[in-house]
Amino acid sequence: MTGDRRKFDYHGKNILAPMVRVGTLPTRLLALEFGADLVYSEELIDYRLLKCKRVENTLLGSIDYIDAENQILYRTCAAERGRNIVQIGTCSPERAVRVANMIKADVAGIDVNMGCPKEFSIKGNMGAALLTQPERIEAILTALREALPDHLVTCKIRVFDDVEKTIELCKRMEATGVDAIGVHGRTRDERPQHANRNAAIKAVADALRIPVIANGGSSEIRNHEDIDKFRRNCGAAAVMIARQAEENVSIFRKEGMLSWRELVDRYLSAAIVWDNRFPNTKYCIQRILGSLQDSTDEGRKFLHTRCMEDICDIWGFRELFEEKQAQWETGGSLRDIDDDG
Ligand code: FNR
Repeated sequence: MTGDRRKFDYHGKNILAPMVRVGTLPTRLLALEFGADLVYSEELIDYRLLKCKRVENTLLGSIDYIDAENQILYRTCAAERGRNIVQIGTCSPERAVRVANMIKADVAGIDVNMGCPKEFSIKGNMGAALLTQPERIEAILTALREALPDHLVTCKIRVFDDVEKTIELCKRMEATGVDAIGVHGRTRDERPQHANRNAAIKAVADALRIPVIANGGSSEIRNHEDIDKFRRNCGAAAVMIARQAEENVSIFRKEGMLSWRELVDRYLSAAIVWDNRFPNTKYCIQRILGSLQDSTDEGRKFLHTRCMEDICDIWGFRELFEEKQAQWETGGSLRDIDDDG
């Protein structure tokens, strides 16, 4: 889709939401294999990305953005090209544009996080802190739109308690030329246990000409058919899923979800093949296992794992792991690159 944005139609699309630590390459690739139409990266903070080097990793066939401490901030590959959106945390049009110019060859689009209520974001004047600064929002989105005429430019917001105020802000966003707006139907102070304000999303979707991506529905999305129900309830073009995909990314699969056991196999092989580092791999498998970590033998063993080999031994992946490692060692060592996602 890069270079061809006007052909992207959001209607009926299912999207992997941005999720810190969860939205690394293996999760994104599985989401796409299972049927997701677009996959968002975890939120990447602008100044951290700007310190990265872009490296073409010929051993893996990936593009890596690596910081001064050899952490891989973002890894992408051909399999997600045209469908990968990088979400950035920013409060600066100037830095946002520098990021855009740095990564535009490798992404289908850029999304700006305008919903994160965490202290780190608020203190940095990012995420939900932007919601009360419409001029700054306009400056960031206008600058990105100009810098990326052929890419998708979007933002992801939370709603206000006042629906009219939400609509007013979204109309100002729409006027900057963004391609779509992701709307999480909770306010900045609400948490997952609060009901998602589907009616507020619908009011926004009805008021805008550009597509709205409905978000916040994971508690009501238990199977693939529920995605369409949520979309209809919200009157939205597209749906973006976070927590349900964190637990079981095969929610995107029309033919039905995989069992946790099948999913661990698929996740672990992707993690091995893409040289995903141990801390991030463990974190993502933990999200899949949930309470099974305490209630099954495999789960209890998993709790004690300290390296990729330990994880591989539980589920019979040692051979694949060693084969890949040997392959990369003969092709040149990448072992000094330490990524915890
Ligand atoms: C999130 N969320 C989030 N949002 C965002 O804009 N950028 C991010 O990096 C993250 N990170 C993140 C990590 C994890 C583990 C979770 C569970 C959530 C919020 C997420 O994208 C979404 O807005 C909410 O979870 C509501 O959608 P669901 O979960 O009901 O589908």
